[in-house]
Amino acid sequence: DETTAKRKDAHLDLCATGDVEPQQNSTLLECVRLVHCAMPELDAGDLDLSTRFLGKRLHCPLLITGMTGGTERAGRVNKDLATLAERYGLAFGVGSQRAMSEAPERAASFQVRDVAPSVALLGNIGLYQAARLGVDGVRRLMEAIEADGMALHLNAGQELTQPEGDRDFRGGYAVVEGLVKAFGSRLLVKETGCGIGPEVARRLKELGVSNIDVSGLGGTSWVRVEQLRAKGLLAELGAEFSGWGIPTAAAVASVRQAVGPEVRLVASGGIRTGLDVAKVLALGADVAGMALPLFKAQQEGGLEGAEKALQLILAGLRQAMLLTGSRGCAELRRHPVIKTGELKDWLAAL
Ligand code: FNR
Repeated sequence: DETTAKRKDAHLDLCATGDVEPQQNSTLLECVRLVHCAMPELDAGDLDLSTRFLGKRLHCPLLITGMTGGTERAGRVNKDLATLAERYGLAFGVGSQRAMSEAPERAASFQVRDVAPSVALLGNIGLYQAARLGVDGVRRLMEAIEADGMALHLNAGQELTQPEGDRDFRGGYAVVEGLVKAFGSRLLVKETGCGIGPEVARRLKELGVSNIDVSGLGGTSWVRVEQLRAKGLLAELGAEFSGWGIPTAAAVASVRQAVGPEVRLVASGGIRTGLDVAKVLALGADVAGMALPLFKAQQEGGLEGAEKALQLILAGLRQAMLLTGSRGCAELRRHPVIKTGELKDWLAAL
């Protein structure tokens, strides 16, 4: 309905111009150091960063995570960023398709196959909307945009800061179980900036979930976004909880440890540079995910602006690979990773 579209527009404005990355939050990637190799014995042209994801081959282990859709402006964001995903061999996700399930005429703003025919593409829906839509409703959303998989997003922290948000979080695992049966390895479960920890990840794996995006603390805070829209008690609660969550570095390392090598693990939440990407890969991620920086670059400079931002990230990643003497992602993971400070405390407890 109207209110969903209006809320989404307010969200985009806040993310484009507002302070939605609380300064005091951290991914704890500053506690991670990769080890310099003085003799890399590699040619930059020999790097092979390719990896498999959702049954397709990525040229580079990067996912532009789900953000938007439902309005003309949102459609432009999707088209521009999906164009880049196609050009650079990345994966791409659209934002919540709730708007589309409520008003099918909004579907066009989620369509990117014309510009991204070969991209590994993810649809997106919230856990509790998925419960209301049922398996067939969710499948229709995925098929309507010719996606390769479906992202199911978890956002309890955000919901609690929204006056119209959900308050009853029971039955979530049962919904996931139903979706896993229907979608198998095409289902991805993601957070939205508060992180998935090892306990939840282990239960998701037991249900058969084979793709998890930890989306941890340290980047866009949806509690902060809602705080900026809220009044009274919810605004105060939002301020209190906008630093709540599992830092991305702690989430990815502990979840990898908990679920073993079979689960495809995406690390998002505050990934801002190519070096950040290299660090999360070294901590055990298969793919790194980014949302806000590419959205902002697109809003400020269109396709060209977003491409410049992406090129810097890719160059940083390649430089980190060369300077650790890693030809590919598997090699990067075999090299030592230094974990210091607060990250060590998290990993000792998780
Ligand atoms: C998001 N995110 C998001 N996630 C989701 O699953 N469905 C959605 O509709 C949205 N919408 C959305 C809009 C905008 C403008 C942003 C910036 C983000 C969350 C996103 O996918 C990601 O999990 C977090 O933003 C953390 O990554 P960054 O932004 O810190 O790189």
